[in-house]
Amino acid sequence: MRISVIGTGYLGTTHAACMAELGFEVVGLDSDPKKIEQLASGVLPFHEPGLPELLRKHTASGRLRFTTSYAEVGAWADVHFIAVGTPQKAGDHAADMTYVDGATSALAGHITRDCLIVGKSTVPVGTARRLGNLVRESTSGDVKVDLLWNPEFLREGYAVEDTLRPDRLVAGGDSAAAIDLLKLVYAKALKSGTPFISTDLETAELVKAAANAFLATKISFINAFSEVTEHVGGDIRVLADAIGLDNRIGRRFLNAGVGFGGGCLPKDIRALQARVSELGLDRTMRFLSEVDEINLRRRDRVVHLATEILKDLQGRKIAVLGVAFKPHSDDVRDSPALDVAAQLFNAGADVSVFDPEAMENARKRFPRLNYTKSAAEALENSALTILLTEWDEFKELNPTEVGDIVESKAIIDGRNVLHVQDWLDAGWRFESLGRRSV
Ligand code: UGA
Repeated sequence: MRISVIGTGYLGTTHAACMAELGFEVVGLDSDPKKIEQLASGVLPFHEPGLPELLRKHTASGRLRFTTSYAEVGAWADVHFIAVGTPQKAGDHAADMTYVDGATSALAGHITRDCLIVGKSTVPVGTARRLGNLVRESTSGDVKVDLLWNPEFLREGYAVEDTLRPDRLVAGGDSAAAIDLLKLVYAKALKSGTPFISTDLETAELVKAAANAFLATKISFINAFSEVTEHVGGDIRVLADAIGLDNRIGRRFLNAGVGFGGGCLPKDIRALQARVSELGLDRTMRFLSEVDEINLRRRDRVVHLATEILKDLQGRKIAVLGVAFKPHSDDVRDSPALDVAAQLFNAGADVSVFDPEAMENARKRFPRLNYTKSAAEALENSALTILLTEWDEFKELNPTEVGDIVESKAIIDGRNVLHVQDWLDAGWRFESLGRRSV
């Protein structure tokens, strides 16, 4: 089977390389010729564990190629995956559909053989049916083109594992033959017992929106309680452990801290609200505004704590450890860490930043911070240390050694990952989110 993957961001590149790993002939398509040139030479333009190896392996074997030509893929592939982005629209909560609409129209205009189009991008409900009509109108009657929606649940940092061994597969569409063809693509995962949920287009689109909305809500739920525990003097980690032992609740995604960011959860809860309002169900998803607000308030809380500790931020040196939206990623889209660093800078602080992977991306977005070569350099003479992305190298910092580098021994653990007692024993003032200050 010949597979094309349209869009070579995190999702598309991972999907293309994993399809090649499964034994298919794959072509990745992107409108950006520079990106295509890089990928074709086996170079991955972002950080994703395990993916550089797959990319090199399959560009070398010839099973994975890259192109900018829709005519080439339209005449070649049996299955086309649409994996372009749906970012938040500028100045609006809705999703920007320019890329999905553009890619689908461009592809439809160049299809010259029977094929299946499979949407993977996260889209507002109703998009797939609209695109199905668009494809039917733009392709000639001589070719048979089916369309399915097959949302993706991969996490950055675990993208290869999640693609090769997904915990479930969901596909929406009207054609049983198309579903059977998609099952051939995923035959390996299905053979090893991965559940396959076959449904209508709308449910498939909504499954993705619901999954991300639920995860965001779970994080904001625990972060709302962390506002209470820090107020009355409690410990949010103990609370999360205790409720998490109820297996109806579960402990995962109950890590309180500076909250969620990234290219998915924040924009997806906003896009879902926008879409549901458009459908006339104004009140239905209103709770997600609260989820969003709780999340953003955690960032303000860190800035507030920093101000409380330093009294005046003007000219004070602050070491920010981590700018990626989470560890094992170089992604800084809507990163709580970068947002806090920028807020501190805008309030007059002298902010030094270190992140093992996300420096380049952060510098592009916010060039005015002081980007250092190591955690030690960021910490040198700092009046305050703030941990905002829980990379292992930060979790393993030795408080006595760090104490010798900094000007003042005060730390905010924005992810609740440090051993408080170790830091207290080494003479630090220790602040965190959701626990009393010590
Ligand atoms: C998320 C979903 O988890 C994936 O299933 C989905 O496929 C993906 O979005 C997508 O829509 O493409 P991802 O954005 O890679 O994946 O990141 P997550 O692991 O979900 O983390 C999101 C944010 O929540 C991070 O900033 C993380 O630090 C934060 N988080 C996570 C918490 O603050 N607390 C937690 O307990 C868990």
